[in-house]
Amino acid sequence: MNAPTVSPAVWIEHKKQGGIHAREDIHALVQAVMHGHMKDYQLAAWLMAVCWQGLNEEETFALTEAFVQSGSVLDFKAQGITGVIVDKHSTGGVGDKVTLILSPLLAACGVTVAKLSGRGLGITGGTVDKLEAIPGFKVERNEHEFFEQAKSIGLVLSSQTASLAPADGVFYALRDVTATVDNLSLIAASVVSKKIASGADVVVLDVKFGKGAFMKTQPDAEALARVCARIGERFGRKMHTLLSRMEAPLGRAIGHTVEVVEAIETLKGQGAPDVEALCLHLAAVSLVHAGLFTSEHEAHQHAQACLYDGKALAAFRDMIRAQGGDERVIEQPERMPQPQRIIPVFAEQSGYVAHIHALEVARAVKRMGGGRVNKTDALDLGVGVVLRKQVGDVVFPGDVLFELWASTHEADEARQQVLSAFTYSKLPIQAPPLYYDV
Ligand code: URA
Repeated sequence: MNAPTVSPAVWIEHKKQGGIHAREDIHALVQAVMHGHMKDYQLAAWLMAVCWQGLNEEETFALTEAFVQSGSVLDFKAQGITGVIVDKHSTGGVGDKVTLILSPLLAACGVTVAKLSGRGLGITGGTVDKLEAIPGFKVERNEHEFFEQAKSIGLVLSSQTASLAPADGVFYALRDVTATVDNLSLIAASVVSKKIASGADVVVLDVKFGKGAFMKTQPDAEALARVCARIGERFGRKMHTLLSRMEAPLGRAIGHTVEVVEAIETLKGQGAPDVEALCLHLAAVSLVHAGLFTSEHEAHQHAQACLYDGKALAAFRDMIRAQGGDERVIEQPERMPQPQRIIPVFAEQSGYVAHIHALEVARAVKRMGGGRVNKTDALDLGVGVVLRKQVGDVVFPGDVLFELWASTHEADEARQQVLSAFTYSKLPIQAPPLYYDV
């Protein structure tokens, strides 16, 4: 590609002033980024202008389209894969290990799951980073491997490849470290482009809202769900959306190794109630949309049976083996990266846990090395937090509130930050519903 006729500074200025980009300009901008004619610092400035001025729906569609066109679009039918391909995507949360559980669960229920996942974004962890806690696990699948694994075991989780919506990968990595994640249009283009490129027939989108999500309120999450659904439809793809609450962390573990451990426990039928409930609901919705069941109740029962009889765990094991990972982690989780110390932290007061501020917990994990500050940072996969008390639990002084999985880096500050994320009530707490169908 020749250098663009418009200089990147003109696009930045235009958006900074609240201008609307033409479709061709958005395509040219994405191309300029991909060919090195628009530098990281210029893209970061444009992203920040978008955060302030927004993109309208036409611009958001154009950005999605440009991301999709930066790579290829998978066609499973052309590869002779005739079953329904299901993909679930979350807009990101704290302790959100649902993909690690739901994907093998759906595969065990008889649908093919072929999914592109992301790395950590902002304060939220990424599935791909979590999978890298499994020694040897190859997160990068080329197109051939992606299809072959979908065909052979019906389950593949891959990072963004050079060929599938690669432009989103570039924008995503920069958004992560420039505080430009929480914009509705940027999220919608990022999520929907990956879903279009990876060619799934059924897409279930879990849009999170609350303190630990990018959308802080339910109306904002509803707006994001609607935009994603409308853009998906313009590509001829139906997106089924669900809203879920992300005020407190989901489940007990926040980090990388610790979340894989919790996912394995859930696949053994020993998960935290909130994680299991969300996974079973998403499984039921996905199975109905995939046409395997007409009743959500029956689909839920089937999914529950596949979780409790070990089929979902077996599918997870097959996936680890197929992607070159060490499947012994299922029995020996200590084979995954470990922290230098596991520090139990005790309650100093009694009461019912009223709230655990997800964002503060996520920040604590990040400051211990569990999140990126710069694009090229390596993560400390062994650090994290394991909650021993969740919202609604009763607590007495001296009870273990949480474990801090720490390497020496900022452990004291992290401990204090998580402690202050807890608030208490004298009266029992009724937790609000975890999810809402849209
Ligand atoms: N998930 C994505 O894939 N992209 C975003 O921007 C946010 C969540």
